[in-house]
Order: sequence, then C-alpha cells, then structure tokens
Amino acid sequence: MKFFLDTANVDEIKKAAETGLVDGITTNPSLVAKTGRKYKDVLKDICSIVNGPISAEVVSEDTEGMLGEARDLARIHSNIVIKIPMTKQGLPAAKKLVSQGIPVNMTLVFSPLQALVCGKLGVDYVSPFIGRLDDISHYGIELVSDIMEIYDNYNIDTEIIVASVRHPLHILDAAKIGAHIATVPAAVFEKMILHPLTDKGMEMFLADAAKIPSN
Ligand code: G3P
Repeated sequence: MKFFLDTANVDEIKKAAETGLVDGITTNPSLVAKTGRKYKDVLKDICSIVNGPISAEVVSEDTEGMLGEARDLARIHSNIVIKIPMTKQGLPAAKKLVSQGIPVNMTLVFSPLQALVCGKLGVDYVSPFIGRLDDISHYGIELVSDIMEIYDNYNIDTEIIVASVRHPLHILDAAKIGAHIATVPAAVFEKMILHPLTDKGMEMFLADAAKIPSN
C-alpha cells in the first residue's frame, strides 16, 4: 500500500518524509488556504521534498479554465498530477489531459458509477472521499470496495486514492481490502505509527539495560 500525505504544510511534509514512508502528496484549495501561501510556491517546495506524485487541484468550473490551469500547474514539475473535480465540465478536461499524457487525479468522487466513468476515461487516479461519506451516515469504505470490484471486472488500471481519511482505522480498513493508496493527514500519519505499548516497552527495556553490568 502506498501512503500519500494529504497536506500543503511543508513542515509537516518534511517531518513525515523523514520516515521514508511518504510516496506522494495530495493538496486541495482548502489545505493550501490554511498555509497563507501562494499555491505555486507551496507546490515547488513540496516537489523539492518528495519525489513522487504531487496532486494539485484546479479551481475553474469550466473545461477550458481547468485546462489552462492544468497546463500552468503541470509546468511546475514532472511529478505534478492534476486534480480535476468529478463534474460534467471536469470529464472532458480529464479526457484531454489524459490524451496529452498529463497525469490526472479525479477528485470529489462519492459513488461507484462516478469512479467507473473516471476509469473509462483512463485517468491515473481516482479519489473517493470516505470520511465525508461517513459524516452523512454512509459507509465510505464500501465505496472503495465497490470501485475495486468494478475496476477488477474491467481491468481498469486507475489507482484508487482513499481520501478524506480521518483516523487510523480508515487506513486499516483500506489496507484490509487492498486499496492502492491512502492519502492521510499528518496527524493521522503520526497516530498510525505510534503505539503507547511500544513507548512503554522501550522505557522498560532502557531501564533494564541500565542495570546490566558493563563488563
Ligand atoms: O484531499 C481531499 C480529501 O482528503 C479531503 O479530506 O477531511 O476535507 O474530507 P476532508
């Protein structure tokens, strides 16, 4: 399973990248707004830290606007993946980018049929938002297993990025069904690695190690 970090905070990215576990980054306008920085500056910094797919989202609502933004963003670095919203206007934009060899991540995906059309367009990634579905009393992870089943039926290569991850159990659920990628906020990434019994065990081993005669 690949781990992406779902943040635009460069300090968080640097820290998490030190673990050697970060395979890519996803950003969105809300995450970038929190940094108070320009989107392009943030992306340049991220590309210098992580060598993997870096998703950058367009904000235009019309196809031509999306394509113009996509061209600009793609120029920043060869690792940039264009995040296109799963809207009527987004579909032709995605198709065009795919034909130009620009990697696409379809975002705001909430149903298996939306994911099917993304796969049919040949996009590289699809991002089902599981936390937001859980928020409205739908099992978000069921969407991921439905997409996996459909992609399997038709040998669709699009990779699934499990997004809107809110806690470590979302990652566990995604891993148990074999989802390709989870994109994870930095706080959840840290929680996934830590365990209080590991810390307690270390404390005990160190205390006992101090009791061992040195020669
Ligand atoms: O990057 C998209 C997604 O992960 C957003 O998550 O928590 O705002 O639903 P959230």
